[in-house]
Amino acid sequence: MVVVGTRPEIIKMAPLIRALKAEEVPAVFTHCGQHYDYNMSQQFIEELELPKPDFSYVLKTYSQGTQTARIIIHMEKLLKKTAPSLVLVEGDTNGVLATALAAVKLGIAVGHVEAGLRSFDFRMPEEHNRRLTDHVSTYLFAPTEIAKRNLERENVWGKKFVTGNTVIDAVIQHISIARKKSKILKRIHSEQFALATAHRAENVDDSTVLKNFVEAFEEAPIPVVYPMHPRTRKRLRQSKICAKVQKIKNLKILPPLGYLDFLVLMEKCEMIITDSGGIQEEATAPPIRKPVLVIRLSTERPEAVKAGFAEVVGVEKDKIVKAMERTITQPRKLPDKSPFGDGNAARKITKIIKKELGF
Ligand code: UD1
Ligand code: UDP
Repeated sequence: MVVVGTRPEIIKMAPLIRALKAEEVPAVFTHCGQHYDYNMSQQFIEELELPKPDFSYVLKTYSQGTQTARIIIHMEKLLKKTAPSLVLVEGDTNGVLATALAAVKLGIAVGHVEAGLRSFDFRMPEEHNRRLTDHVSTYLFAPTEIAKRNLERENVWGKKFVTGNTVIDAVIQHISIARKKSKILKRIHSEQFALATAHRAENVDDSTVLKNFVEAFEEAPIPVVYPMHPRTRKRLRQSKICAKVQKIKNLKILPPLGYLDFLVLMEKCEMIITDSGGIQEEATAPPIRKPVLVIRLSTERPEAVKAGFAEVVGVEKDKIVKAMERTITQPRKLPDKSPFGDGNAARKITKIIKKELGF
């Protein structure tokens, strides 16, 4: 059973769903309901031409603990009924941890795609989720050697494999169709622009950090295009700077975009400013190759920094603006290859699953 719950999980599981089908591995597809807006969920299933989920739930908004608990209850019922031999989860969301817990308590094997990432920042719910999930997994699909070493250091119980990250597969599989189908550039009126996203709880739930971001985008040396995550929109509405944001000429706020539009913006922008995990990886994919300013205090993707794509610039306004200026005036030479693999991660994971399950 392949389980997804949020936007990045759908994108990163899409290549694996395809590879399992191509190799005739019987699989059911479940949406555990963490994301529920059309433009955070169903839109991706349609655009990526995935099958309709065999099972899906709608959770709506709950606190972290309630959200996790409700998913465990749903998933336990479903896993009892369907009894899969393996449950595949991807990443570090509450849905991932909840599904992994439900499975392991029923004695069902868990395969963790994107295992072994560590930010060493214990404020982050994602850091709790990924560590705990890794420790209850039977198969750990680490994207890189660094991720595998993290798992070795922690003596996790399951079998470890280095496979690359399926997000590189996703970029390569969708970029041509994005170039053909997307009309997003008609909505962008500047030749040069920076693409921004921010949604991490430790950033946008802190009103000072949120204000820093808005002010940095206001003072940015080039226009900033910002497709806004619903968590951030909610926090902005609750903040004192809400009215000001609408008036900033340098900042174009868009609703959350579909994958094809977002790929085109990544391909065309001068730089990416983000606290997203997946976007740090996508920026290194050969069709994208963009400098990334990571507006956080840490990253669980040190490979992107080591390769020269990403720079962790922190969350202070001046540091973000200076880093943008530097990125424009002193462009970095970026490698041709991604440190997250060559676009064959899903195929590698499928081969391992076939061997391990005896198909
Ligand atoms: C979650 C993940 C995060 C991941 C992100 C992907 C956890 C702890 N966090 O963060 O790791 O990077 O998804 O985008 O699992 N909301 C909507 N509509 C939706 C979804 C969310 O309005 O379809 C709003 C609600 O106000 C909700 C808030 O966003 O309370 C937060 O949603 P939630 O899924 O809890 O966390 P994300 O910030 O999306
Ligand atoms: N993305 C998208 N539309 C957007 C913003 C992001 O399709 O408006 C894609 C992006 O290409 C990447 C994924 O969503 O594949 C990242 O999701 P997000 O930043 O929400 O989560 P994270 O990767 O931080 O967990």
